[in-house]
Amino acid sequence: MDAGVEGVRLQKVLARVGFGSRRTCDDLIAAGRVLVNGSVAQLGRRVDPETAVILVDGAPVGIRPGLVHYLLNKPAGVVTTADDPQGRPVVVDLVPAEPRVFPVGRLDLDTEGLLLLTNDGELANRITHPSYGVEKEYVAHVEGSPSRSGLRLLREGVELDDGITAPARVTPVEPNVLRLVIHEGRNRQVRRMCEAIGHPVLRLVRTRIGPLSDRSIRPGAWRHLETDELRALERAVADA
Ligand code: URA
Repeated sequence: MDAGVEGVRLQKVLARVGFGSRRTCDDLIAAGRVLVNGSVAQLGRRVDPETAVILVDGAPVGIRPGLVHYLLNKPAGVVTTADDPQGRPVVVDLVPAEPRVFPVGRLDLDTEGLLLLTNDGELANRITHPSYGVEKEYVAHVEGSPSRSGLRLLREGVELDDGITAPARVTPVEPNVLRLVIHEGRNRQVRRMCEAIGHPVLRLVRTRIGPLSDRSIRPGAWRHLETDELRALERAVADA
């Protein structure tokens, strides 16, 4: 059921998730900017919001009722998992228990900063899949002060035991503090990169996931993604 007399009007579904008034949403549809299950939607289209794959300007719209997206500022000492056999605090205990959500990617036990938790499996897969190359930005406090040649290595690619890293954007913020932007998601990648140039990480904070950044969330706190942020994220992982 995704057309005909059953289902919910597409303009209503789009309006509900923040694309503007129903009138504005009708304009989007009339302009041919909305695809439903691969075809350009016509005005008056009805959809099953549980199953329809809706794209606006090529970006998937997270319209299914019940989807939640939390942006958490993970503190150090909390495990990025739903359940820890060793009984340590876990990230899912920092957000509402219902509906059940899972972390998107992972931060090490001692890494702090932004972590997305959601029950939106499709979006989560895209964010973590290397082919979408979503940027992540970290601030790393390191031992000592990396030299220009060390920074160049980070920028060009460092040899790690699982292969050479893709070029990173690296900006020294202070002599012993680096801002790094990477788009791979290898295990302990930033720590291993910095260690490889002889400057082990003392403190690591993730400050951005694709278009998402927020310095005002205190450690251990979370907030819902704004509709604009969700849309920006969906655009970042839209198929080319
Ligand atoms: N790189 C790391 O080394 N650790 C993290 O938690 C994330 C990226």
